[in-house]
Amino acid sequence: MGLRNILINGDEQLRKHCRPVTDFGPKTAELMTDLAETMVKANGLGLAAPQVGILRRAVVIVREDEIVELINPEIIERSKEEVGAYEGCLSCPDMRGLVMRPRHVRVKAQDRNGNWFELDCEEMAARAACHEIDHLDGKLFIDLVDRIYTDEELDEMFGSEED
Ligand code: NI
Repeated sequence: MGLRNILINGDEQLRKHCRPVTDFGPKTAELMTDLAETMVKANGLGLAAPQVGILRRAVVIVREDEIVELINPEIIERSKEEVGAYEGCLSCPDMRGLVMRPRHVRVKAQDRNGNWFELDCEEMAARAACHEIDHLDGKLFIDLVDRIYTDEELDEMFGSEED
C-alpha cells in the first residue's frame, strides 16, 4: 500500500480504544512497513496505527536513529524522574505543548512475527513510546497540556532556527 493518510485531530477514530493485533501475517507486516514509511515521510518520531485509521495496537518509534516496530506494546517499567519537553503530533499540525514524560521506560512488545521482546527507551525514545502507546487508548498529547502553543509562538519564545 505504501504511504497512508494521517488522520487529523477531530477525527473520532483517534479517540477509540484499539484492539490487540492477533494476526502476524502479511497484512500486519504491510501495516508496519507502511507506518514506518509514512512516519519518515512526515518527519515524525513515532506513528500509531489509529493515526492511519487502523484500530489495532501497533506503533513505530524512532530510537537511536533506528525505527522500532512495537506490536501490542506495554510499558512495564518507568522511571520516577520525569522530563518536560514541547511535544507535537503528526495528527495535530502546528500544535505544541509542554508534556512531562518519564526519562526512561522499559517496553514489552511483539515484533511483526509475533515474538515478544523487551526494549529500554531513554529520553526522546521514552517520550515517543509513551506518546504512541497513549494513541492506542485514544489519548492525545493535547489532553495532557495546560495550554497549546503554535510553532510560531515557540519561535518567538525561543528564537527561530532560521534567524
Ligand atoms: Ni501523536
